[in-house]
Amino acid sequence: MRTQVAIIGAGPAGLLLSRLLALQAIDSVVLENRSRDYVEARIRAGILEQHTVDTLTAAGVGARLQREGLEHSGIHLQYPGVRQPLDFPSLCGRTVWVYGQTEVTKDLIAAQLDGGPPLLFEVSDVRVEDVDGDSPRVRFTDADGVAQVLECDAVAGTDGFHGVSRPVVQGAGGRVWERTYPYAWLGILADAAPATDELIYAWHPEGFALYSMRSPSVSRLYLQVDPTEKIEDWSDERIWDALDTRMALEGWSVTRGPVTEKSILPMRSFVSAPMRRGRLFLAGDAAHIVPPTGAKGLNLAVADVTLLAQALVRLLQEKRTDLADSYSDRALARVWRCTHFSWWMTSMLHRSGDDFDAELQLSQLRRVCSSEAAARELAENYTGLPLDL
Ligand code: FAD
Ligand code: DHB
Repeated sequence: MRTQVAIIGAGPAGLLLSRLLALQAIDSVVLENRSRDYVEARIRAGILEQHTVDTLTAAGVGARLQREGLEHSGIHLQYPGVRQPLDFPSLCGRTVWVYGQTEVTKDLIAAQLDGGPPLLFEVSDVRVEDVDGDSPRVRFTDADGVAQVLECDAVAGTDGFHGVSRPVVQGAGGRVWERTYPYAWLGILADAAPATDELIYAWHPEGFALYSMRSPSVSRLYLQVDPTEKIEDWSDERIWDALDTRMALEGWSVTRGPVTEKSILPMRSFVSAPMRRGRLFLAGDAAHIVPPTGAKGLNLAVADVTLLAQALVRLLQEKRTDLADSYSDRALARVWRCTHFSWWMTSMLHRSGDDFDAELQLSQLRRVCSSEAAARELAENYTGLPLDL
């Protein structure tokens, strides 16, 4: 088998990259080790920056997003007794969109299977070879158990945090930075109309809570919990009661409904550099993880592949290496900005430490809620900064 770009991993990064390359007449093959059902059902992020929406729309996969996505012009920041709206258009001239990662993935897979480049599910034993030369290859076993070799000009490692690509890059040297946080998120999806028009990020002495949504009839809510907590110990009733406590505001209440999914997510920051070794390029969670507060993970993956698609087009069509050579540095500048923003939002809103830490957090929250300059800094980062920083 031969293609121009072998793409490992059919998450949003790999699928979108394949699509962006196809639009520039570059062929690719996407290899995914899970089943289509599994990939489409994996519940993750829900907030898209304007840049992400524009990229998906320009790539021809924005029709349902334009129809069903909810445009949000801000968020609420809350601490006891205060719920402060931040209006993004007046602060920075941009908005964000609520549209689940599951839906982005479904739209990309549907487009891919409708005449797009090959997308192979349930492959196993994926190995990347000879990335230091001009003719790398990927060996894998297909869904029928047949060993395959995919010869190519470049490999995109978009196989997430637990993939096989990052170790290959790090094998030639490099560095990782990591921070684990002393808390996790318990997330639920509920068939309940959201009781708020915009997301609410709430600080509370008992821990952070976030009110988000997926549609006018589906709520997505999160609670800060200890990372050692077991989901079995959290009945629906206990979750709703904790949400009521942490999001309490006079004359307002959380709307309850049947819980259709619940899980606990660990939280970490992680950056691996460089994002390239020879003809192997990393993008998305394969190279970096941010804690979810601030909703940057998916958007960062989209920004990476936007840069990577440009670099691969230049390399494979024009035979020029400048964008391939600058890819890692350009991507990492943005990665570190989002790493800082996600760490800052996380540190400001989650309870840990002592009363001194709590007072610092409250002081920072009051500052963002009262200073236009401080609010603008949050708004610019939340809605997404330019591709090149
Ligand atoms: P992924 O979506 O991880 O895709 C990688 C793909 O590669 C997967 O399909 C995987 O099955 C496949 N793969 C792995 N190994 C191999 C292999 N060896 N061979 C072939 N294929 C392989 N971000 C937010 O902004 N907000 C959130 O609320 C949020 N919640 C999250 C919850 C969870 C549980 C997780 C894990 C992440 C969450 N994120 C969230 C982050 C966001 O979902 C990711 O940043 C985003 O999915 C990154 O996309 P990606 O394509 O780089 O990686
Ligand atoms: C969602 C996730 C986030 O991390 C966030 O900051 C806002 C919303 C969500 O899943 O809806």
